[in-house]
Amino acid sequence: MSNPVYLAVDVPRLDAARALATRVKAHIGGLKLGLEFFCAHGHHGVHEMAHLGLPIFLDLKLHDIPNTVAAAMQAIHVLEPAIVTVHASGGRAMMEDAKAAAGEHCKVVAVTVLTSLDDSDLSQTGIGGSAHDQALRLADLAHSAGLDGIVCSGQEVGAIHRQWKDGFFVVPGLRLPEGKSADQKRTVTPRIARDNGASVLVIGRPISRAEDPVAAARAIEATL
Ligand code: C5P
Repeated sequence: MSNPVYLAVDVPRLDAARALATRVKAHIGGLKLGLEFFCAHGHHGVHEMAHLGLPIFLDLKLHDIPNTVAAAMQAIHVLEPAIVTVHASGGRAMMEDAKAAAGEHCKVVAVTVLTSLDDSDLSQTGIGGSAHDQALRLADLAHSAGLDGIVCSGQEVGAIHRQWKDGFFVVPGLRLPEGKSADQKRTVTPRIARDNGASVLVIGRPISRAEDPVAAARAIEATL
């Protein structure tokens, strides 16, 4: 079984990002590059990271009209990402067009409700009901639009996996029992997320901010 851990490379400098990934690459399964990395370093930065030989997850959270998102997907196609994110709230047509433009080797997964939003934030945007219900509704929409899966917390992945057996589930916010949670509130351990159906485990600071990132990545790998 391949290693499900994708390192969230939330490091502003390209040389530092490359150095970190080079150190831990034997103990992770892929690299997650976010919007901040892509805005700062663009295609060049992604190519530099891809030279390490690990699959690339471009976490761009695309959200625009279908034509624009499809064109953006085509523009990043040359980078051969293994996974790309879009916002499920962009709607069915946008997700369908994103998937069609992605090419067969790229998984397109949907962000449902950002974990930074709670029920009252949603109500300010005109969405009634709970963030939890909205996330489940958008997960259903992503499924019916033909996406590969969604991004969700380790606390939800079991329930969503029961509804969507062959879904591809990306789970961030993971911590070892002794680890610091920092700004993540709804954490579970990598092992629990994996046992509950996570396909990809996104892990950032528990590795990148560890005194010894290699030892931290090995310790996580050993729990899986
Ligand atoms: O450092 P940490 O392990 O908390 O990093 C988690 C990564 O997953 C970060 O890149 C963060 O932006 C991302 N993420 C998240 N929660 C979500 C979606 C993405 O923490 N709901």
